[in-house]
Order: sequence, then structure tokens, then C-alpha cells
Amino acid sequence: MKIFLVGYMGCGKSSLGRKLAKSAGMRFVDMDAIIEEREGAAISDIFRYEGEEYFRHKERELIEELALADDDVVISTGGGAPTWQDNMQRMNSIGKSFYLRRTAQQIASRLSPHGRQKRPKLRGLNDEELVTFMTTNMAEREPYYAKASHCIDCLSNSDEEVIRKILSIVREDE
Ligand code: S3P
Repeated sequence: MKIFLVGYMGCGKSSLGRKLAKSAGMRFVDMDAIIEEREGAAISDIFRYEGEEYFRHKERELIEELALADDDVVISTGGGAPTWQDNMQRMNSIGKSFYLRRTAQQIASRLSPHGRQKRPKLRGLNDEELVTFMTTNMAEREPYYAKASHCIDCLSNSDEEVIRKILSIVREDE
């Protein structure tokens, strides 16, 4: 089984994914981290020197690579991956995708200064600009995230509850 976690930057895909993989005894893959490792560069530098399109191709290559893996994997995707080409359909054909939904307000209040700095799209925004940008950008991305096999409300649920929900859905469908 391949479980893709999708959702906006800072919604908790990586930290929740790591916990989910641990409790399910599955391998954990953080797409951003793998791309950074392979490219030998931070995401912000990849965007700066190679451009966003190059990064999106790397994301897609990695999705195709994961399709070929024969073990169970929890995959934390980058927030923009669902919006590129037919990535959502492709992820749904490989496994199940879960949209971790949070509000812009909630994400903004969780993001550390480093969390903003390392994300090229959020870099340099003050508190007010951050919420304004996220609200607009999230609304644009919502139709892509909505293509996920399941939408999980993270606003009113703890990580543990979200993990329980995901696991029960995965087991039910098996
Ligand atoms: C991006 C999200 C980031 C990273 C890159 C672009 C986006 O991943 O892939 O900065 O366009 O939303 P996270 O969602 O893990 O922050």
C-alpha cells in the first residue's frame, strides 16, 4: 500500500507522516527531503537556480519511482505537487491519497520563522501578508487537493486521531 499525504505547506504532512509510518510499520518517504538530498541543494536554491518547473519534474519522477517500489510506504508530498499535471490522478492510481485540511489561519500560527524562510513561496512575507497569500493560494489549490481519495479535517482532530482515521480507512478498504 502507498499512502500519499497531500495538503498545503505547513499542514503537518511530514511530522504526521513520520508518526503514521511508525505506527503502521511502513517506510516513510519525505519527497522534499529526498529531492534536496539528490540534488545536493535546499528547495529554495533549487527554485532559485533551476526554477520551479525543474523541481516539479523531479517531484513527478519521484512519484513514478515510488509506483515501482514493492513495499508499503507513507509518502509526504510537497504542497504544490498535487497541482502539477495529472499528479493527483497518478497518485490515486498508485495508492490512496489523504488531504490533510487546515485553515490558512491555523497553518500561519504553526509556522516558525525558519518554516517560512525555507519555503520559497512564503519567504519574506510578514504575518499579515502570509495569511493573505495563503488564503488566496489555498483557494486556488483546493480543487486539486479535493481530488484526494479522502479528505481529513485536521482542524479539530489531534495527530493521533488523524492517524487512527487514516489507518481505519486503509484497513477497511483492504
Ligand atoms: C511547495 C511546498 C513545499 C516544497 C516547495 C513548494 C508548494 O513543500 O515542495 O517549497 O508549492 O506548496 P511543503 O508542503 O512540505 O512545505
